[in-house]
Amino acid sequence: MKDSQPKTIYLKDYQVPDYLVDTTKLHFELEPKATLVKSRLSIRRNPQAGAGLPPLVLDGVELELLSVAVDGVPLSAEDYQVLPEGLSIPVSKAEFLLEIQNRINPEDNTSLEGLYLSNDMYCTQCEAEGFRKITFYPDRPDVMSKFTTTIVAPMDHPVLLSNGNEIERGRSEDGRQFVTWEDPFAKPAYLFALVAGDLEQVEDSFTTASGRNVKLQIFTEAKNIGKCDHAMRSLKNAMRWDEEVYGREYDLDIFMVVAVDHFNMGAMENKGLNIFNSACVLASPETATDTAFQRIESIVGHEYFHNWSGNRVTCRDWFQLSLKEGFTVFRDAEFSADLNSRAVKRIEDVSLLRTTQFAEDAGPMAHPIRPDSYIEISNFYTLTIYEKGAEVVRMIHTLLGAEGFRKGSDLYFERHDGCAVTCEDFVKAMEDANQVDLQQFRRWYSQAGTPVLDVTDSFDQSEGIYRLTIRQSCLPSPGQTEKLPFHIPVRVGLLGNDGTDLALNEQGDTEIVLQLKETEQVFEFSGLAEKPLPSLLRGFSAPVKVRYNYSNEQLLFLMRKDADTFNRWDASQRLALNALCDLQAAFRKGEALKVQPSLINAYREVLQDTDLDPALVAEILQLPSEQFVAEESVAVDAEAIIVAREFVRKAIAVELFAEFRKRYLELNLSKPYSPNAIDIAQRRLKNTCLSYMCVTETEEALELAKSQFEVAANMTDSAAALAVIINYGEDRLAEDSISQFYQRWESDTQVVELWLSQQSCSPKRGTLENIIALMQHPAFEMKNPNKVRSVIGGFANRNFKQFHKSDGSGFEFVADQVLALDKLNPQIAARLVIPITRWKKYSGDLAEKMRGALQRVSDSGELSKDLFEVVSKSLL
Ligand code: PHE
Ligand code: ZN
Repeated sequence: MKDSQPKTIYLKDYQVPDYLVDTTKLHFELEPKATLVKSRLSIRRNPQAGAGLPPLVLDGVELELLSVAVDGVPLSAEDYQVLPEGLSIPVSKAEFLLEIQNRINPEDNTSLEGLYLSNDMYCTQCEAEGFRKITFYPDRPDVMSKFTTTIVAPMDHPVLLSNGNEIERGRSEDGRQFVTWEDPFAKPAYLFALVAGDLEQVEDSFTTASGRNVKLQIFTEAKNIGKCDHAMRSLKNAMRWDEEVYGREYDLDIFMVVAVDHFNMGAMENKGLNIFNSACVLASPETATDTAFQRIESIVGHEYFHNWSGNRVTCRDWFQLSLKEGFTVFRDAEFSADLNSRAVKRIEDVSLLRTTQFAEDAGPMAHPIRPDSYIEISNFYTLTIYEKGAEVVRMIHTLLGAEGFRKGSDLYFERHDGCAVTCEDFVKAMEDANQVDLQQFRRWYSQAGTPVLDVTDSFDQSEGIYRLTIRQSCLPSPGQTEKLPFHIPVRVGLLGNDGTDLALNEQGDTEIVLQLKETEQVFEFSGLAEKPLPSLLRGFSAPVKVRYNYSNEQLLFLMRKDADTFNRWDASQRLALNALCDLQAAFRKGEALKVQPSLINAYREVLQDTDLDPALVAEILQLPSEQFVAEESVAVDAEAIIVAREFVRKAIAVELFAEFRKRYLELNLSKPYSPNAIDIAQRRLKNTCLSYMCVTETEEALELAKSQFEVAANMTDSAAALAVIINYGEDRLAEDSISQFYQRWESDTQVVELWLSQQSCSPKRGTLENIIALMQHPAFEMKNPNKVRSVIGGFANRNFKQFHKSDGSGFEFVADQVLALDKLNPQIAARLVIPITRWKKYSGDLAEKMRGALQRVSDSGELSKDLFEVVSKSLL
């Protein structure tokens, strides 16, 4: 541990900045180990900050300070104070020009924050607090400034980019070249970007609704130039969608996207110059899976949408992060839903939320979507801020309706354009535009934890009245023992005996949104002839857990009949969860395991239902993941979960083999690849069938997998075949296929990442021994987060079986890797440690072993702020 404990930052301590920066002029002379940065800041006392002229405090980390001058007069070292993470300069005038020169070392910057080198390309990452690793600056989002940036570089880095418009270029006397960019929009430093490299580009254009012509460019290394089409198409779709759905146009003459191989996150919305993790932008049919195509579409959309929800209107402070992220995830989810299958998109998002965000919300790092405190803000780029934040925005949308929501967003953008604002401002705009009261709803921003709804019902035959009683509760979370009731929109329908929706009111609506506000509330429905079956929380109208004592028969009924597609799927999941729960109990008691024929029959019916969207069939057939079963357990018994799940999978595979084969053969069409929703759905189901068939490990099934592996003309089919061969084929076949695949694709970074994760995620081949060997492979690179995520992250997060080995070796391994990574890239280390922070969720020995590994990390000496925060909070 550091000598001084890292300090906690509190929302309640927020104060407006003492000084503003009207203009920021930057000048870079790029050198791998010694880049010179000169800045000229026009500084002004903030009129809102009160009287007097306190010292100007600037943030700065890992900078070599060369000189400071005020209004052209150089300061000597005694004139200012160097702080551990910054600079304090005395001030004598309300307005002045500050000039600073400093040096930085991009080549040795492995944290990938600030200015760094990826392969041979310079690039920056400034969110949240990376700009302070470039130069001394008030690095906070409520200081907004107009940036002008000059980049000087040797000729082997011909492409020099920054935000805004290019205003000048030329040669310097020493043979280097320079380019100057000017961004007309004031922005916080976290949206600054610079790129320099030997890059190629694809170019296109977009005409906005008001007729402005925008140049669109995607930059990559030459070898990837053929992998930009899908991102470009997605970008144009996103631009059109934001005009149509939100009335928002793009505001500069040029929009640039750059792909980089070394990146901590998915992508970054820098003004006019988005920087993307290569994996989130590059795709071609031969090299990218359907999942990758869809991910790219949504992330390109996400970053583009930030231009309004994030850049034009930004965050006052980092506690407000969900203001831009929750809203923007909601926007990108709707974009994807509009362009593809809405139901399937919703199912995918809710699966992720329930598996991963619910676990976070019940764990040691649980925080509200607007946290009250943090030690390291990078640790708060979480599923809670992003995905739960999006659910909260979605609930507002549900409460106000599409039109009301649009009125609210129009008012929000109009009121706050060019400003740095708070979540409160967002909610207020929604309220004011609709004249509604969201006072109680605001608790979603301040209270952590997943609410639970306990639902009971009764039917009064003589009166024809059906009553639903809903009780809400929420467990304590760190720092919050008592929770006040939430305002929860609960969308419901009632099914009659024949499975059709009953009328719920005089207007004849068959679906309504109940407004749950009390701890317990009774909702009455009258005029009913028979006791209905409730379909609760349709479309997952709130991020909560619903408990209603459905019998398996009722779940089967909902799975067949519910008018709400999401709830059909949800019923199938509950049914499977019940089965997995029973099997775990039987396993613990040493009883014989068996699966109810009714479950198998239900799957058979779904599998044979050719009217149903094949993607939905695939989703229903997909058993809840081990991670989700674990999240639903009170005390995780890893072995029982694995045994139970494997048993059900095998039972389904054996019983329905013929049906799987039939659908597989019907769907195994050879047609040119297109990543459209219909084709994706067909491939999805086809590969689900293949996977189930191979569970039986019969020769017939593996022959199909082998031939698919050999002839596949797209990466979805090829990777799916490889996955089943790895998991169910004989060792020889598996090894040959693994090396054959590598030989074919070794020069393609994205495919190699997939190849690595297929092995690390495999319950059969992803043994600790093989993982360690994989880390010695030339394709692995500890300094590259994608590779780390593929191998170590895949093992810890998605290889439930090998990670949970009873000897605790998986936990110790993760602890070792986390410690090694912390020296290179603290953000990645702090993320990778998460799988071993959930020890309280486990039973017995495994909990002890996991805690032990975590304790060892804690005891091992100097940790980064990032890792310290996660580890120390998880040991409490
Ligand atoms: N703001 C980025 C996004 O959500 C995420 C990001 C955060 C990227 C921090 C890099 C660093 O689009
Ligand atoms: Zn974002």
